[in-house]
Amino acid sequence: MVIIDTGQAQIDDFYDCFSELMSEGYGHFSPGLRQHFLTVDYPKKNFQFWLERSVRKILLAKEGSETLGFLVGDYAYGGVGFVSWLGIRNKYRGKGFGTELYNEYEKFIKTKNAHLIELFTFAEVKPFYEKLGFKEIGIREEGYFGQKNVIMDKKIGEWVDLNLLVKK
Ligand SMILES: CC(C)(COP(=O)(O)OP(=O)(O)OC[C@H]1O[C@@H](n2cnc3c(N)ncnc32)[C@H](O)[C@@H]1OP(=O)(O)O)[C@@H](O)C(=O)NCCC(=O)NCCS
Repeated sequence: MVIIDTGQAQIDDFYDCFSELMSEGYGHFSPGLRQHFLTVDYPKKNFQFWLERSVRKILLAKEGSETLGFLVGDYAYGGVGFVSWLGIRNKYRGKGFGTELYNEYEKFIKTKNAHLIELFTFAEVKPFYEKLGFKEIGIREEGYFGQKNVIMDKKIGEWVDLNLLVKK
């Protein structure tokens, strides 16, 4: 398995996998919400825009021409990185690929002087993130899009005011 820092050239591979996960991996989303994500908030052109502007990093796990999964993580703001989407195709789960993608994002975001990584997840997936060192900091019973958000974060460094002066 190799992890690719996705550019415009690999956007189709990423988006095929993202669309598959949207219908299969995030099963608790209603059909209407999935449709909304694919057509309004997260169509392919939005990811192309975010890549172009370095707003979001897209990491792809590949084995030859096969795409195994992806991680979409935001660039740091105020020293805080954010894992927006993480998905491994059903048949490749439980083989360590999700962990490897996360580790790669953590490595990347440290180069941007992040001291913290935040994410929202679901109760069933919480144990996975706990294994990666995340702690639950709270639960929103009816959060974004009416979902129950388990809010977690992981401290990965110290906040240093002087880093504000360093252009990254
Ligand atoms: C959650 C997900 C990304 C994990 O990726 P993965 O490659 O299957 O996970 P890994 O193989 O790296 O697992 C690492 C550890 O976490 C555990 N783990 C993985 N998924 C888990 C889950 N849903 N619940 C509990 N433990 C889990 C594994 O058993 C493994 O434990 P071990 O180290 O003791 O063997 C993947 O299962 C997935 O894509 N699920 C569907 C989409 C989803 O829920 N994404 C997250 C939304 S926030």
